[in-house]
Amino acid sequence: MKIGVPKEVEAGENRVAMTPESAGMLQKLGHECLIQAGAGAAAGFSDADYEAAGVKVVKTAASLWKEADVIAKVRIPTEAELKRLTRDKTLITFFNPGGNEAGLELAKEKGANVIAMEMVPRISRAQKMDALSSMANIAGYRAVIEAGNNFGRFFTGQVTAAGKVPPAKVLVVGAGVAGLAAIGTSTSLGAITYAFDVRPEVAEQVESMGAEFVYLDFEEEQTDGSATGGYASVSSPEFREAQLAKFRELAPEMDIVITTALIPNREAPELWTEDMVAAMKPGSVIVDLAAEKGGNCKLTVPDEKIVTDNGVTIIGYTDFPSRMATQASTLYANNVRHMLSDLTPDKDGKIVHNMDDDVIRGATVTYQGEITFPPPPPKVQAIAAKPRATEVKTLTPEERRAQEVAAFKAQTRRQVSLLAIGGLAMLGVGLIAPASFMQHFIVFVLAVFVGFQVIWNVSHALHTPLMAVTNAISSIIIVGALLQIGSGASLVMILAAISVFMAGINIFGGFLVTRRMLAMFQKS
Ligand code: NAI
Repeated sequence: MKIGVPKEVEAGENRVAMTPESAGMLQKLGHECLIQAGAGAAAGFSDADYEAAGVKVVKTAASLWKEADVIAKVRIPTEAELKRLTRDKTLITFFNPGGNEAGLELAKEKGANVIAMEMVPRISRAQKMDALSSMANIAGYRAVIEAGNNFGRFFTGQVTAAGKVPPAKVLVVGAGVAGLAAIGTSTSLGAITYAFDVRPEVAEQVESMGAEFVYLDFEEEQTDGSATGGYASVSSPEFREAQLAKFRELAPEMDIVITTALIPNREAPELWTEDMVAAMKPGSVIVDLAAEKGGNCKLTVPDEKIVTDNGVTIIGYTDFPSRMATQASTLYANNVRHMLSDLTPDKDGKIVHNMDDDVIRGATVTYQGEITFPPPPPKVQAIAAKPRATEVKTLTPEERRAQEVAAFKAQTRRQVSLLAIGGLAMLGVGLIAPASFMQHFIVFVLAVFVGFQVIWNVSHALHTPLMAVTNAISSIIIVGALLQIGSGASLVMILAAISVFMAGINIFGGFLVTRRMLAMFQKS
């Protein structure tokens, strides 16, 4: 098949749906690649780069749409573009099917098959095609960079000869893909970062990235996202009030607020109100990633940067991925390439549009003259459904600490009872067993106890390095082997040499694994 990529027509759009690298991979699937002249220029890919990768450069959009069997692009197609489709063509693009009825009708009328990249279900198998996540990841990163660019201070705290600089305080509202990327960027720049989300299960992820999760003192039955494809559902008015009260308390303290809260197929919830903006310090910055869907901040103006009377900058750009066009194009082109790889199961350059495949079905919005949007729910859930607790409570830090203390006390009680039972059992054995047996038995029991205590109290994440170190320690047998190696008997020497070799692997291998594991926990 011929895969063609036109130049984006939307003003200011710098991304392109194919890179020379992705074109190389598509050719390996048996496809031929075409690109419109100049399509990759704004993303840093010249026509010569494409030609070197074996891509045919086509002069005009009209000839590209005509020649290609599959057209891949980034932005929602315009009416003029859709009119270029014919019955035998497939279009892969962002499409906004929920708000693009006219587009759906036109594509149906043309009989073309349209795959909407934002409809790729968020299931594990489809992660490599999840263009929404790749773009949100870039947007989250760029939001922090943009905030920094408009903020007059350092992110990290510093003590310099010229004075002390306090660290910036950043609040990220919504810890989905964009939010987590923003948290990661903000903490790595050294800011004190706080994050809030209506899904309490993300607290662990937030904390593992070095940010503090903002808990609400509020009880509400919340979903774990499994029923909603990994997304949040609408919260109750009472929960919303508690949330706003918390934000009001935080507003005067925060230097930067990045809002990313979204519930699919709805307008963005309004979470940062006018009075919160008024309470912020002059020089503070708000980046509202949800600007395109109405904004999480009341005062956001889409695609603009405004400064309020009290000196707060509010950024409502909706094109963050396009502002990092090379990176965004590389990731998006990979998402498209993976989609095409699934559409070419035999790697023979033939497209098989398998509507029984969850991912392809989910993303297909028109197929053979029919509108196939909305799709049925995927057979595989985004998150395995957990049995629903009747009541999930978002805990305050004090309550969490109390819980931890209670858990510690319960564990200590368990251990003391185990020790008592063990002691009694030993006494019983001691009464009947010979003294020589008892000596070994006591060492054995103590070793089991100490080993159990050590392993149990070490974090799960560190079990592999721990095992590697204990493995290395067990190689004490090397001492025995070295003592035997000079014994003179050749069989003993050979066996001892083998033992030294094996124990050597154990020791060095163990420490090597430990080093590599620990390196993963170190901040570079
Ligand atoms: P996501 O669905 O992964 O994350 C949204 C998060 O918001 C979820 O964790 C959800 O639980 C949370 N949330 C929902 N309601 C909330 C509430 N009332 N309070 C607090 N948290 C709440 O979405 P993703 O992919 O991270 O995108 C985030 C936003 O960024 C979207 O609005 C998206 O359209 C936008 N975006 C903007 C771009 C730009 O250039 N401006 C580019 C890419 C994405």
